[in-house]
Amino acid sequence: MKKVLLVGNGAREHAIAQALTKNGRVELTTFAKARNPGIAAVSKDYVIGSLGDFSALLSCAKEIKPDFAVIGPDDPIADGAADALLTLGIHSVAPLKTLARLESSKSFTRDLVEKYNVPGNPIYKVFTHVDEAAIRSFIGELGGEYVVKADGLMGGKGVVVSGEHVKTVEEGIAFAKASIEKFGRVVIEEKFVGQEFSLMSFVDGNTVVDMPVVQDHKRAYEGDTGPNTGGMGTYSDANHSLPFLTEKDVADAHEITVQIMNALKKETGSDYKGIMYGGFIAVKNGVRLIEYNARFGDPEALNVLPLLKTDFVDVCEHIIAGTLSSLTVEFEKKATVCKYLVPNGYPENPCTGEKIQINEDLLNSLNSVDERLVSFYSSVDQRDDGLYLSSSRAIAFVGIADTLVKAEAIAEKACGSVSGPVFHRRDIGTVSLIGQRVNSLKLIRG
Ligand code: GLY
Repeated sequence: MKKVLLVGNGAREHAIAQALTKNGRVELTTFAKARNPGIAAVSKDYVIGSLGDFSALLSCAKEIKPDFAVIGPDDPIADGAADALLTLGIHSVAPLKTLARLESSKSFTRDLVEKYNVPGNPIYKVFTHVDEAAIRSFIGELGGEYVVKADGLMGGKGVVVSGEHVKTVEEGIAFAKASIEKFGRVVIEEKFVGQEFSLMSFVDGNTVVDMPVVQDHKRAYEGDTGPNTGGMGTYSDANHSLPFLTEKDVADAHEITVQIMNALKKETGSDYKGIMYGGFIAVKNGVRLIEYNARFGDPEALNVLPLLKTDFVDVCEHIIAGTLSSLTVEFEKKATVCKYLVPNGYPENPCTGEKIQINEDLLNSLNSVDERLVSFYSSVDQRDDGLYLSSSRAIAFVGIADTLVKAEAIAEKACGSVSGPVFHRRDIGTVSLIGQRVNSLKLIRG
């Protein structure tokens, strides 16, 4: 048996835990800030600790002596959890701190793309001190269509887009000032118009192996309205692309990731070993880069990891050894639709501590030879008398089938198995919403 240390306790880490333990080759220890009943069910040991407390993490690692670690969330990766574990000789599927700037510093990534002539950057400027006149003038040069990106991690609240999150230039400038005060810099850039998609890749420093392309839904309510969330749901198609993308779009996004991996090596002298998650957008004349994350996406991981035919343990070991090119990584050719159930009031004022009930018979009835449902716990608290809501996304249901229509129907029925004060987006993965996206990009591309 291999010993593996998993860091994190969300639904993304539940999907990672399932992938690691699927073939019975792993004895899993989880280090997490809260107990996730799904992860606990497949872990041998479950250690509760703050993800920022590296001395607790290292004590846990010293005791279990894992063969390797997988670090799920952005914060410990950005803070150097992989570097800390390496002091004990433990390698991680997660980049070192200097490489994790790909996610934690938006200016680092924009400057890297520019320095190494990688395609995909917007027109942008980095501001390092509060100069309102200069910021206003640059926003004017962008025609008032702009994005302001804080230069550090802000739990999904670090980006504002003109016309969406900020209605006036004054609000945009105020956000830029706050970022400069907190992080010492801010990025202001051109706003892209098009369809966003997530391309996550396994990266070992030499080779990039893509996962199926996924589209996320950030807004809380149907019709892409309401406040931004961690992601209300996602879908991926059986051909591993999305209905509005061309083969060239996906190839261009892949090429950007390859060039960034090589640029990171030149810039830092180190190999990036982990997940590179490119947030891309298909625009009028090609593909542009919105941002990189240095980890699996959540929900995106929930779509792709259940499709992985190759043993994830082998994938992890080849990432660490830098030998991904010698491994054939295969995913099932199935469509997936993921829908998150969240507490009423989420994200601004979520009800917490309320009991929910799941009709397990209904869930079991959704599995057949060609179709299946997988469920992932996120922020739920399992007590002796049942499951209770915490303050964030609670449970994700992923329908897996030959077509998006069938996958969506499975996820939707699964959402109906839960009673309690929760809601979800019924429109994710539907013919109607996907059709709107296809048509919208068609119009943009002419
Ligand atoms: N799907 C959004 C994220 O993982 O950041």
